Amino acid sequence: MRFHRLLSPILVLLLFFLFFTSSSEVTKPTKLVDSICKKTWNYTFCVNTLYSDARVGNPDADSYLLAYVSFGLAYTNATTTSSQIPVLLKNANTKKDVSLQHALRQCKLYYKKAVSAIEEAYNDLNSETYSYLISLTKVASDSASNCESSFNGTVKPYPLTERNNGLKGLCEICVVVSKLFT
Ligand SMILES: *[C@@H]1O[C@H](CO)[C@@H](O)[C@H](O)[C@H]1NC(C)=O
Ligand SMILES: *[C@@H]1O[C@H](CO)[C@@H](O)[C@H](O)[C@H]1NC(C)=O
Ligand SMILES: *[C@@H]1O[C@H](CO)[C@@H](O)[C@H](O)[C@H]1NC(C)=O
Repeated sequence: MRFHRLLSPILVLLLFFLFFTSSSEVTKPTKLVDSICKKTWNYTFCVNTLYSDARVGNPDADSYLLAYVSFGLAYTNATTTSSQIPVLLKNANTKKDVSLQHALRQCKLYYKKAVSAIEEAYNDLNSETYSYLISLTKVASDSASNCESSFNGTVKPYPLTERNNGLKGLCEICVVVSKLFT
């Protein structure tokens, strides 16, 4: 009986403790991340994307770190897509699908452009040159849009829609972050 009386307050405390610690684990973005992501089209996508890099959760994470993280993610995303296009192209060649081949060849060029624009933006960050970040990001974002439009007239679903939208989403974050430097 006495043991029970002692146990329940402890249990209540323990539950409280568990409740508060676990609820704080549901990503509570830093003020900076919150203010950046509020300016993007999809807040959840923005927070989840930035927090995929563990350094972002650090309270000391500043706009420079966020710029490196967001351009880094855009770069990885664009290069991954770029490397997948030849695989899709091989498939389209096998199927002798001429309009799909054409669209994919266009995308290959657009992604080459996107990758080199993001690369340049990344180098600009390293050399603390901020004036071209936004226009370079736009080149990358437009490349994703142009790639998507090149499938116009081919059979849906288009093979790169999700990836094109993904890169556009990342570019949007890069633009908002870049504006912190101008
Ligand atoms: C926003 O992003 C989240 C996470 O990526 C996704 O689940 C959700 O569908 C997106 N919302 C819209 C309206 O696209
Ligand atoms: C697809 O191409 C046709 C003809 O070139 C054009 O009229 C139409 O607006 C295009 N659609 C999209 C979604 O770009
Ligand atoms: C790029 O973005 C797309 C769409 O969000 C996603 O499916 C893909 O996994 C991303 N790739 C990388 C390498 O982050």
